[in-house]
Amino acid sequence: MSIQKIMVIGAGQMGSGIAQVCAQAGFDVKLNDMKEEFFARGLGTITKNLSRNVEKGRMTESEKEAVLGRLTKSLDINDANDVDLVIEAAVENMSVKQAIFKQLDAIAPAHAILASNTSSLPITELAAVTNRPEQVIGMHFMNPVPVMKLVEIIRGLATSDDVYQAIEDMTKKLEKVPVEVNDFPGFVANRILMPMINEAIYTLYEGVANKEAIDDVMKLGMNHPMGPLTLADFIGLDTCLYIMETLHEGFGDSKYRPCPLLRKYVKAGWLGKKTGRGFYIYE
Ligand code: CAA
Ligand code: NAD
Repeated sequence: MSIQKIMVIGAGQMGSGIAQVCAQAGFDVKLNDMKEEFFARGLGTITKNLSRNVEKGRMTESEKEAVLGRLTKSLDINDANDVDLVIEAAVENMSVKQAIFKQLDAIAPAHAILASNTSSLPITELAAVTNRPEQVIGMHFMNPVPVMKLVEIIRGLATSDDVYQAIEDMTKKLEKVPVEVNDFPGFVANRILMPMINEAIYTLYEGVANKEAIDDVMKLGMNHPMGPLTLADFIGLDTCLYIMETLHEGFGDSKYRPCPLLRKYVKAGWLGKKTGRGFYIYE
């Protein structure tokens, strides 16, 4: 199973990072989003990251140009008609993702693998809307993608061993470390991380301490690189809420109840760093 041409769907913070690391590893990448401005924002982030690599001596100017040369703009999902792998990184919403997978199944070549970067949604349910469930898999990158080493690889119920192996090999080519997990809500990463973040939000909601104090306790006391409220802003509060809802619904256990303060912020449009305001304000 040879992978050379890739399409990444969604040019947001994750999709742009995934497209960058794939192009850096020598793959041809089509970066797809719904509007020109969303693609342009993603490409802007990639260009900034690559320029920093040049400034730091990790890459030459001509290598940077070669990476950018392997990236193509796509505003039409039909561009998936000649790729070997699609990595979907659109919003964390089952009906949006299922609609994308249904379309991809009709458009992408028969041999193509359809992967999702979903944080928590069942891979098996995405696979079920396609006629190729054995070629559907989870490829869960961590944020910021160019920096973080882990890719959680999630086997759906029907994912074939050949497809798993191809994705594990491809992950290593990206200089990332693959970790195999099974398909349960939140997988491993977010089943453990997100309840901690949700608990930090409850701690704020119940007035146990202010936001800076909560973040300081976890940063200075547990050596976390970011406090949980800063990390929630960095991930996106909409994504955090979707993940908690997936855990709550998937396990039917009240211990995963999303904090009402998280819901309130999302309803207010305070989605964190990407909208300029979450628990903190960003200029
Ligand atoms: N994109 C690309 N590179 C970035 C970056 C970004 N968004 N943010 C930081 N970097 C790079 C910087 O350029 C810097 O590299 P160089 O100086 O060598 O060029 C390096 O990372 C360190 O950055 P800083 O010195 O500015 O800051 P830092 O030491 O605090 O590190 C961090 C930044 C790596 C983001 C660190 O704070 C960290 O590890 N935070 C926690 C990240 C984390 O937990 N991620 C997982 C989120 S959960 C998830 O992803 C799963 C999900 O489904 C929600
Ligand atoms: P984001 O909001 O930054 O970006 C999402 C992008 O998808 C936007 O540019 C949007 O225009 C685009 N999009 C939406 N619907 C689309 C469609 N039908 N076709 C093409 N593009 C479409 O979100 P993000 O933080 O990059 O998250 C994307 C996915 O990655 C989610 O499933 C999320 O759970 C997952 N994820 C997020 C993180 C994180 O820390 N933010 C980490 C790992 C995984």
